Amino acid sequence: MRVIRLRKDDTDDAKLRIPAEIIRKGGLVAFPTETVYGLGADALNERAVRRIFEVKGRPDDNPLIVHISDFEEIYRIAKPNRVALKLIDEFFPGPLTVVMEKREVVPDATTGGLKTVAVRMPSHKVALRLIELSGTPISAPSANRSGRPSPTRAEHVIEDFGDEIECVVDAGKTEIGLESTVVDTTVYPIEILRPGAVTREMLEELFDVRVVKTSEVARSPGMKYRHYSPSADVVVIVGRDARWEIARLAEKFRKMGRNPGIAAMKPDLSIDIPSYDLGSNLDQYAERLFDAFRSLDRSCDVIIVEGVEEKGIGAAIMNRLSKAGRIYRV
Ligand code: TXA
Ligand code: MG
Repeated sequence: MRVIRLRKDDTDDAKLRIPAEIIRKGGLVAFPTETVYGLGADALNERAVRRIFEVKGRPDDNPLIVHISDFEEIYRIAKPNRVALKLIDEFFPGPLTVVMEKREVVPDATTGGLKTVAVRMPSHKVALRLIELSGTPISAPSANRSGRPSPTRAEHVIEDFGDEIECVVDAGKTEIGLESTVVDTTVYPIEILRPGAVTREMLEELFDVRVVKTSEVARSPGMKYRHYSPSADVVVIVGRDARWEIARLAEKFRKMGRNPGIAAMKPDLSIDIPSYDLGSNLDQYAERLFDAFRSLDRSCDVIIVEGVEEKGIGAAIMNRLSKAGRIYRV
């Protein structure tokens, strides 16, 4: 696999022409976005898209997000309604994915046979320039093997795929760390199929919103699969006494002969249990969570995580935690 290194805001065309050429020829390129790294292929090339599914081990009824770099491309692949146009106007480029009616050019392989297509314009400069130089929309799921936590660093991509993909563009850590908000605009109230950094509260300023429960799987096929999971068991503790309970549980697991690890905001690093600091606010927490999973997974068989309040990006954090493990309120 070829690794192309760039700074986050450096759109060095001489370097980006290499991955763009790979995309144009039907190859696979992992690239950074502001949310997580994506595993990209030419969205209009059915064979290239099929390879994404093969390499990821992804069920083929789980549709991909199509990434674009300019506003005109929206009309080429989708039929936005008034609501979609308003959301696009407000939040593109950024961590919002808009589900709209699709046009013929988008192959069924990309949309898992659905009549709709999910579209996103990332705000990451490197991603935008790569799409532009490729001259085609890029379909990209998160660049992790199916069932593993999404990659927030190029090293995570390399860990999961090694030489199975042609190229990774490494621009360091991703800023947001959780996947984009997915919103279905073909229904009203609009539906949040996956919470993310564009929060329910932000969307409610514009439209009536319904949050689709994880148990209502029909609309976002991807949500029915196990996700974001380290191999270790994940136990999430939320509530006022969480910190005390986390320490108690860690001790208890250790006595049972297990190897616990802790992921918490400003954890007590003086105890001799592997601990990952999730920072001191929810944005830092979101940015670090998947890296915490991956790094604790190397030495632990149970990860005890401090949960958060379900407000703002906290809703997206708790959504990912609920998929990774069990939540206990104390
Ligand atoms: O932040 C992100 O969204 C990242 C970066 C790379 O852009 N991508 C990402 O893709 O998370 P992926 O494939 O891991 O998740 C896409 C989600 C899945 O839950 C999928 O089911 C849903 O979007 N989705 C895609 N197309 C859809 C459609 N037409 N209707 C409903 N849900 C759709
Ligand atoms: Mg994913």
